[in-house]
Amino acid sequence: MPELHIPVMLTEVLSYLDCSRGGVYVDATLGDGGHALGIYRCLGAGSHLVGIDWDGEVFQVARERLQGYPAKVTLVHGSYTRLEKILGELGIGSVAGLLLDLGVSTRQLLDESRGFSYHGEAGLDMRMDGRRGQTAEELVNRLPERELSRIIYQYGEERFARRIARKIVSARAERPIKSSDQLVKIIKSAMPPAARRAKHPARRTFQALRIAVNRELENIEQVLPQAINRLEPGGRLVVIAYHSLEDRLVKTYFREQSRRCHCPPGYPCICEGEGKIKLLTPRAVKPTEEEIASNPRSRSARLRAAAKKDVLKVKAGE
Ligand SMILES: C[S@@+](CC[C@H](N)C(=O)[O-])C[C@H]1O[C@@H](n2cnc3c(N)ncnc32)[C@H](O)[C@@H]1O
Repeated sequence: MPELHIPVMLTEVLSYLDCSRGGVYVDATLGDGGHALGIYRCLGAGSHLVGIDWDGEVFQVARERLQGYPAKVTLVHGSYTRLEKILGELGIGSVAGLLLDLGVSTRQLLDESRGFSYHGEAGLDMRMDGRRGQTAEELVNRLPERELSRIIYQYGEERFARRIARKIVSARAERPIKSSDQLVKIIKSAMPPAARRAKHPARRTFQALRIAVNRELENIEQVLPQAINRLEPGGRLVVIAYHSLEDRLVKTYFREQSRRCHCPPGYPCICEGEGKIKLLTPRAVKPTEEEIASNPRSRSARLRAAAKKDVLKVKAGE
């Protein structure tokens, strides 16, 4: 049995989702179902839990865990970028709560055949949805140097991006880059000795490739408006991000959607606007020291939560 993913900030997630209200709850990043199980236990008969993941390998574990409580469970193999379509196909109009626990699961990270890890000698796949999309191997062997450098700089926030991209391009001219250890050696050789000693020198480049392979930032941009659209009045959206690029997107979108007026700055307000959501977390919530000590992978987590406003109540001044 592979190591199960430990759900991050579970108590906080359950409290912000406020599952005791009942209704339809969506865990759009099901993984091993740790958060989903917490939600499922709170739900009574008549409620419905929908779990979505694009990695077909998660369902057996999640299915085994999600049994024995009264709520209905539906598990969907697909991308959360199709959220509205998925809910439509299930005949669900609006939902009481939705969770996005972004990033990769422990299981995906530890599975050598997936190639997420810079430890070991795995192939360079890095697709969470193994059915489609380009692999990391294809990206490092095919992309022009400029594009590689951009990806490594933007998504990895790696200051040696140009040097690394140049080394990758010269190395692949000699022989194709096929494995993570081969790529790690190339990255190390591109870095000055002092930088090689800090953390793992390949950490940022691997993060960048993973984000590019899975189109992680584009996916977040696609799902957030759909999630807010589908929340019922008072419904909750909870998002956990694991790096600053993800968190910045969530923070900016939440701020925009919570603003009262959407007219361009400097113009009189003609939108009679009310923000669509109320921020429940003015600042990102971080895991406690105890949680970080017991689950070091939670260290970088940042949780943000919002509630959909009830526009009719707002207009009536309630
Ligand atoms: C951090 S894990 C979630 C772990 C889960 N909360 C638990 O307690 O076990 C993130 C999961 O989201 C999934 N995922 C990432 N992007 C996705 C997308 N666009 N659509 C559906 N699932 C996605 C990954 O396959 C992975 O299983």
